[in-house]
Amino acid sequence: MAGKNAKLGKVLYTQEDITRRAKEICKQIDKDYEGEEVLLLGTLKGSIMWMVDIMKYLTVDTSIDFITASSYGSSSFSSGVVKITYEPNVNMYNKNVIIIEDIVDTGNTLKYLIEKLEGRGPKSIKVCSMLNKEARRKTDFKADYVGFEIDDLFVVGYGLDFDQKYRDLPYISYLDAEDVEKL
Ligand code: IMP
Repeated sequence: MAGKNAKLGKVLYTQEDITRRAKEICKQIDKDYEGEEVLLLGTLKGSIMWMVDIMKYLTVDTSIDFITASSYGSSSFSSGVVKITYEPNVNMYNKNVIIIEDIVDTGNTLKYLIEKLEGRGPKSIKVCSMLNKEARRKTDFKADYVGFEIDDLFVVGYGLDFDQKYRDLPYISYLDAEDVEKL
């Protein structure tokens, strides 16, 4: 079980790498939503640092809010059963919503979230994820904007946690496989 003493792997992406990629994605989003307004919906807690980058570099009109979804079972790996534990009051009817996510792993969380949010009548829903771990996908979910494609590693830092730790690292790293208990 990884704890305080778990060993971190090398740095996968530095603050500079992430900033550069966020700027590129924001250019694309600006182009795609030219003349429109966008509601950025950050998934708590993992997306916070990526959310700040994206909102900083977009020039289209944006408002922000947050949503929390979690899966039952393990703290680190999705069980496939997702529930929304916090949902904002904001009106989504006829709005362009972009969900800002930290990582797409199995895809269960986003598939469920999008299904739920469709019920609020948005004009469009897209997903901008900092990381995509394609190797572990269990659904047909595909994010519209992806920061980086990563291998099947348990990544931490830049908002991502293991047991609520490591979120504060200003870069993305990973934990040694033997330190991560796969439930
Ligand atoms: P999914 O539903 O399997 O796509 O999982 C989504 C959630 O699982 C993410 O929002 C993360 O909170 C968590 N997660 C998946 N892989 C990792 C990882 O490598 N590091 C940290 N959290 C992860």
